[in-house]
Amino acid sequence: MEADPKSPKFWEAYAQTVQKEPISTKCLRPETWDSIAQYYDDLEACPDYMHQVQTVVDTLKNQVLTNKSTVIDVACGTGNYAIRLAPFCKKVVALDISPGMLQELKKKMERTGIENIEIVNQDWNRFETEERFDLVFGSMTPILGSTEGIKRFLQLSRRYVAIVFWAGIRENLLLQELYKEIIGGTLKKKGLDIILPFNYIYSLGYAPELHFFRGCWEKRRKTGEQVKNLVWRLELYRKLTEPEKQIVKERIESKADSQGMVSVTTRVRTCFMLIDKKADHFTCE
Ligand SMILES: C[S@@+](CC[C@H](N)C(=O)[O-])C[C@H]1O[C@@H](n2cnc3c(N)ncnc32)[C@H](O)[C@@H]1O
Repeated sequence: MEADPKSPKFWEAYAQTVQKEPISTKCLRPETWDSIAQYYDDLEACPDYMHQVQTVVDTLKNQVLTNKSTVIDVACGTGNYAIRLAPFCKKVVALDISPGMLQELKKKMERTGIENIEIVNQDWNRFETEERFDLVFGSMTPILGSTEGIKRFLQLSRRYVAIVFWAGIRENLLLQELYKEIIGGTLKKKGLDIILPFNYIYSLGYAPELHFFRGCWEKRRKTGEQVKNLVWRLELYRKLTEPEKQIVKERIESKADSQGMVSVTTRVRTCFMLIDKKADHFTCE
């Protein structure tokens, strides 16, 4: 492995180790996301999450976008950012590999009457276009675990790249407890973290601006939905047997309130990173 962390090769080699983790492969498959698309937006009921979304949108609106700007939201999911950025620019291309996630975005476009979003159902790694965008945006996507994927953010951008990603803290105590009991060992997600996109982009010569968010994302759901979600999270690591799914079900049911609802909280730290490709193009007199 290249020993100098200032060299892009160092981070390319690091990314290879991240991609070997089974979770990285599974998160790149459309069916993984199709299966949770319908309740993905439950997160929008959480104030700490919405604070993050709104701060990112406001910063881009104030510092980056004009009504002439073109934007691509890479791995847009249900379009929680695309739908909020669209009113402040000319057009948003919303790209995702999961038809299920994009179906939810379509419903939101119909509900809100927003028309300047072009939906593209494709794999980012195979997406070909001659077009260059004023802003290339990507949030919480496993694509950011690959230096090839990150490099394409820079290549397709005329000027700005914005990334939102995990930043060192992602602590769901119930998930950790179930992981230890069923799969064994400690739940670790090594590479899907801002450490890779930040350092790789820095090693390529850019100086991103960073903003961190800290908070608790609470999802209150019906028992059955909560079981489905936790089984989904655990199956990112390996398939569960029926008796193992029963353990999850019983644990969740034991936490249900009188209305059959269960809250699951994740303590998080996330990072919003903004790169202006032109920022360092200054001269000294
Ligand atoms: C956690 S969701 C994030 C969605 C949205 N950006 C957000 O912040 O809520 C991850 C998304 O990455 C998408 N994805 C994963 N691999 C992809 C790929 N190779 N090309 C395009 N989208 C991909 C998934 O379909 C999923 O919608």
